[in-house]
Amino acid sequence: MKKLVTIAATLTLMGAATTVFAGGAGEKTYKAACFACHGTGAAGAPKLGDKANWGPRIKQGKDTLYTHALKGFKGNKGFMPAKGGRADLSDADVKAAVDYMISQSQ
Ligand code: HEC
Repeated sequence: MKKLVTIAATLTLMGAATTVFAGGAGEKTYKAACFACHGTGAAGAPKLGDKANWGPRIKQGKDTLYTHALKGFKGNKGFMPAKGGRADLSDADVKAAVDYMISQSQ
């Protein structure tokens, strides 16, 4: 019986950890796949937190930003590779990273 209680407590803790992780998934993907360009402005990428650069982009609407991030985008500043060049990422991961970037840049 004691063992069962321990297992139940462990599962509860794991559940809590998973919830926290899900909340930070966009940030995690950003750091792993987008930071190389968007953290530094490399290759003409709009830097995280650069409101002047992100403002007009955010005005296009989220759907356009999702599409550009997922399928790639050639703009006036440079070339955004599809999924940041990480074809292994799921669409949901990339969208979460876009959401994170928007939340930090408006
Ligand atoms: C190899 C460099 C590079 C990487 C890696 C990269 N980007 Fe970009 N991204 C760019 C560049 C350059 C632009 C700007 C293109 C322009 O406006 O000319 C851009 C623009 C964008 C935009 C704005 C599109 C628009 O319509 O203005 C979004 C959203 C975006 N990137 C999301 C992401 C996400 C999400 C990731 C990670 C999964 C990522 N990028 C990784 C280079 C990169």
